[in-house]
Amino acid sequence: MSTLAIRGGTVVDNTGSREADVVIDSETGTITDVTNDVSNDVTSADTTLEASGCVVAPGLVDLHVHLRQPGREDAETIETGARGAALGGFTAVVAMPNTTPAMDCAAVIREIQDLAADVACHVQPSAAITVGRKGQELAPMAELVRLGVRIFTDDGTGVQDDQVMRQAAEYATGLTHLADGQPITLAQHCEVTSLSEGGYMHEGEWSSRLGIGGQPAEAEELMVMRDIALARLTGARIHFQHLSTAGSIALVRAAKEAGLPVSAEATTHHFTLTDACCATYDTVYKVHPPLRTQADVDAVREGLTDGTIDAIATDHAPHTSADKERPFDSAPPGMLGLETALALALTELDLPIEKILALMSWQPARIAGLDTHGGTITAGAPANLCIIDPNETWTVSGAAMASPSTNTPYEGKTLTGRVRHTIYNGTPVVIDAQAQK
Ligand code: DOR
Repeated sequence: MSTLAIRGGTVVDNTGSREADVVIDSETGTITDVTNDVSNDVTSADTTLEASGCVVAPGLVDLHVHLRQPGREDAETIETGARGAALGGFTAVVAMPNTTPAMDCAAVIREIQDLAADVACHVQPSAAITVGRKGQELAPMAELVRLGVRIFTDDGTGVQDDQVMRQAAEYATGLTHLADGQPITLAQHCEVTSLSEGGYMHEGEWSSRLGIGGQPAEAEELMVMRDIALARLTGARIHFQHLSTAGSIALVRAAKEAGLPVSAEATTHHFTLTDACCATYDTVYKVHPPLRTQADVDAVREGLTDGTIDAIATDHAPHTSADKERPFDSAPPGMLGLETALALALTELDLPIEKILALMSWQPARIAGLDTHGGTITAGAPANLCIIDPNETWTVSGAAMASPSTNTPYEGKTLTGRVRHTIYNGTPVVIDAQAQK
């Protein structure tokens, strides 16, 4: 047996916090002891990681990443994306299906699972709701559920046709019963394209001043409205991805008050940046949904605080410099997120670390149906952990990140809070902020 001890930290999980050392059997990938005695199994461990002044937490879970494989390995691969995730404290990420080809059939899902077999975190494939993400014909959802898919989404775009979305929702409720007790979730990128077409940033004062076509908030809100209605009609679990407007958040708040089976995520950029950033015409600020107004940022923060929003996601979207150097209207939307998310939440949100961990670990783990991540830190539990120094300050550098892409909008920004170590399946994949894999 090879043992690992994490010494001197404060354990924080969904049951509260306590000073304790954590002992792990690296071979089985399980926690064997959580103790505040200086016991023999701590002092005799084969490897010891220092955690004094640190928080020892369940590994973070990101519901929304683009890993670009297959198809755009020049921008990211499953291996580099997983490494970036581990550096950001994530032990599990949900990969979005807008690859080339799309993740809409068993062959591509199996390919992702094979590529992810030996990387630095768990990569959980989502699958497309419709064939080719074209919004017309349902993907073979039952077959994909049997392969382990839990979240279906056409992300990158929303399902435009109401009837197709209704069918997907009806089908998903049946699959919930067929699956191994874990729920199936439909995740929606809410954007009515007939309203957003020709828009490259938020429609408002800044788009008028800059002469860049805008996407109105209503393009998002109309689809949120429709899908709340479909959740009511069908009983399907619907998860709203990257909510960005005050109106969307108010709609989800009301839906939750009405007891509907909906959940929601917000990205780090939608609670830290506004459409005023686009005044530089720098395409690093181009993202879908677009950066919105300060009032929207305030509403996202309120939603994170009051429980309307269940999870912080990154929407990690690597793009090569050549692609991002195109003009604002033709550059692809998206920004890197995995290595900055936790520090941004700790630095920018006025929330206790327990609440931030709920939003970044156990709540998203539950939505993704991942029962080996985000759990209580106790003997017998899977050893998927991140150890965070909440006081360390560091400066963001795109070039220093694991991704071959460098499109971070936080370049040069100083953040407080850093992932010190990450343990995946009992093995340290990050030690002292350095990737081991
Ligand atoms: O900004 C975004 N980037 N939004 C999306 O919906 C897709 C993503 C990507 O794949 O680059």
